Amino acid sequence: MQKSIFIEDIRSGKYDGEVVDLKGWITRTRGSNKIRFIVLRDSTGRIQCVAKRDVVGDAVFENLKAALIETSIELRGIVNVDDRSDGGYELVIQSANVIGEVNPESPFPITESAMANSDGGETEFLLDHRHLYLRTSRMTQMLKIRSSVFGAIHRYFRERDFTEYHAPNFVAGAVEGGSTLFEVPYFGRKAYLTQSWQLYAEAAMPALERLYTIAPSFRAEKSRTRRHLTEFWHAEMEIAWAGNSDVMEHGEKLVRTIAKTLLDERTEELTELNRDLDLISRYADNPYPRMRYDEAVEILQDMKVDIEWGQDLDYSKEKVLTQDFDVPHFLTHYPKIAKPFYHRPDPEDPKYVLCHDLLAPEGYGEIIGGGERTWSEAEILQRIDEEGTPRGPYEFYIDIRRYGGVPHGGFGLGVDRICSWLSGAEHIREVIPFPRDSRRVTP
Ligand code: 4AD
Ligand code: MG
Repeated sequence: MQKSIFIEDIRSGKYDGEVVDLKGWITRTRGSNKIRFIVLRDSTGRIQCVAKRDVVGDAVFENLKAALIETSIELRGIVNVDDRSDGGYELVIQSANVIGEVNPESPFPITESAMANSDGGETEFLLDHRHLYLRTSRMTQMLKIRSSVFGAIHRYFRERDFTEYHAPNFVAGAVEGGSTLFEVPYFGRKAYLTQSWQLYAEAAMPALERLYTIAPSFRAEKSRTRRHLTEFWHAEMEIAWAGNSDVMEHGEKLVRTIAKTLLDERTEELTELNRDLDLISRYADNPYPRMRYDEAVEILQDMKVDIEWGQDLDYSKEKVLTQDFDVPHFLTHYPKIAKPFYHRPDPEDPKYVLCHDLLAPEGYGEIIGGGERTWSEAEILQRIDEEGTPRGPYEFYIDIRRYGGVPHGGFGLGVDRICSWLSGAEHIREVIPFPRDSRRVTP
């Protein structure tokens, strides 16, 4: 069955006054015994359609009158330019077929207005009905923005000759520390779900030199915050012959490219979400300043935030710090004790590591974590032993340094986090179709 035309084709003006076939779902319906006003939705928009009893005949009119919200229908009608209706067009229905009815015993529970009263989709009710909530305009906009973000990331790396590379999701060791590891039974042994692609990407670094991926990562995050998921999408890159600053340059260019792509592809969706496009332009055009960790701690202490040197910055601190930032800022040179073993100690002062986090403004905080890797055998053994990490699961990782190690680095970008920030979402759950957190694996 071929799709006739889409609602956005009508809005482009090329069908004015013509007879067209449309397929879609009813999102609103009202009227009298003589005339019905039906708002039809498809993947590209909405249009008001009018059915008059004396035009469509009694049988079709009765079917349309009985059709509940979310019934799928196909319509034939004349495109009418009409300034009074939303979008400037109306379809005058000539004939109609109901395709998929809605079960009247469990009527579709989610209307746009029910959703509008629901804190942007955060109630348990809406999460329980996520499979239906996906049909709301807010969710559709979010998913289209998300798709553009994924496209921008692939394009960024491919245009620069990065090779897309895949790592296993079942692993034997932690990347980002043991506290958020998901353990899975594995044929009588224990395995874990990967927290990051990085260690396995480093193994291919001497072969491919420039690698990237977009893949799910898993973290057993118990706390439910507006920026944590247990399964999130992770865009990661690894590059040979590169230092911390080179890696940051890629991170900055990538984030700016994503912002620019949304301005090119998704201004309509962003506007409907009430996002200020000037902010997105600013994120696309202006450079991102770099600041050392120590400076950030001083700023926070001046703001009377309770923080001690040596602590990683959690969300509560980043939120305060980034509230007044006008663009994303890099924080560099975190204390060694705050970061995992793979970060390279700064040769100028080994209390610090050559790393960076990119913090998004407006209180969003960390969207990227990355840096230069410890790359000599002696140094990696020292870091693993210092941390008290068993060497066993990392023998392959140490080997990379035993056989022709070179300086290299990379970063991980939380894709759901950047979608959340750029779309202005209240909560990271809003930008992923089926969010996973410590209390929910359904639907
Ligand atoms: O800072 P993280 O933990 O760094 C790494 O995993 C490195 N191995 C990446 C690398 O260098 N290749 O995670 C990277 C990013 C964070 O900045 C954040 O944006 C996102 O991943 N992230 C999460 N997003 C959603 N929910 C979670 N629970 C997340 N944990 C990390
Ligand atoms: Mg981090």
